[in-house]
Amino acid sequence: METTTAPVRVQRVAQSRLKEVDFSNLEFGKYISDHMAMVDFADGHWHEPLVVPYSNLSFSPAMLSLHYGQAIFEGMKAFRRKDGSIIVFRPKKHIARLNKSLDRMCMPEISEELFMTSLQSVLDVDRDWVPSGEGASLYIRPVVFATEARLGVKISDTFKFIILLCPVGPYQAKPYKLKVEDKFVRTAEGGTGFAKCAGNYGGAFYPSKIAREEGFDQILWTDAKEHKYIDEVGMMNVLFVLNNKLVTPQLNTAILDGVTRDSILTLARDMGYPVEERRVTVAEVEEGFRNGSLQEVFGAGTAAVVAPIALINIHGTNYEVPAVKPDSFQLKVKQQLHDMRMGTAPDKHQWNWTLPA
Ligand code: COI
Repeated sequence: METTTAPVRVQRVAQSRLKEVDFSNLEFGKYISDHMAMVDFADGHWHEPLVVPYSNLSFSPAMLSLHYGQAIFEGMKAFRRKDGSIIVFRPKKHIARLNKSLDRMCMPEISEELFMTSLQSVLDVDRDWVPSGEGASLYIRPVVFATEARLGVKISDTFKFIILLCPVGPYQAKPYKLKVEDKFVRTAEGGTGFAKCAGNYGGAFYPSKIAREEGFDQILWTDAKEHKYIDEVGMMNVLFVLNNKLVTPQLNTAILDGVTRDSILTLARDMGYPVEERRVTVAEVEEGFRNGSLQEVFGAGTAAVVAPIALINIHGTNYEVPAVKPDSFQLKVKQQLHDMRMGTAPDKHQWNWTLPA
């Protein structure tokens, strides 16, 4: 059945899969909603967005993204409020980062207007998929990839932009155990670490698998040159409370400009909390464990939000992070983010974009 809700054409599923979703156990990435937004780039421009049933697509095995990795993605979230409205958190910042990733990978820019039209249309059609349980949200996964069929090493002339929607619960319940990586690298300065390129994640699988075999959950990545400075953790940014200051590695081309990271730093400054964005050495973190000045360590990312870290292995020695307390900074800031999204605290930075009930 095809309907037209100007300006986006919508082709609806014959039968929704919503009933199959176990909303009491929303494993991350398991359920994808009924529809997806889809836009094609060809002849030098992006075409009209469509909303179509989520389904397999057909591509050439010679498609350039499969061979040379011209593929990027984003991760954003929508939340259902008590009044039935849906808010999307900081879409402008995500679109800006998407465009930085596209630019780095020689892929065509997507305007805010095209992005928001596509997102709004698919979100409106699948609004019943936005969960309302505590800690639950709708994870939004925009992805852009090269579709031209050609084995020659070249920049593709055609691309696809798709937005998938995925109801999710809390990312990981248990605090993370990390291992400081001093052999493998996620990316180097000048590389693609700041962008959300598919290849950044695939390249991290092998060292992460080794870390898991050793009993850790994720890797604490260090700089590629000396393994002396901390970059980020697994698929998140990392923040420390050291001597009552919030300290985090300053952004460079090897570190992802996390939206949650930026939101936490902004809220910390609003709270009058001292913030330092600077190079953070592995040695000072180890020293902080030894002399007791290291009070908190947590990860920050769209999927995980604020993720407590329980243990860090530094060059073979396990150091336990002090337990999270009711007045820990990470809990306060997590609550503030939650309240702002749910509308129980003022949205003073205008971060929420609302789809009315
Ligand atoms: C996110 O937090 O959005 C991420 O990119 C992590 C993801 C790869 C699950």
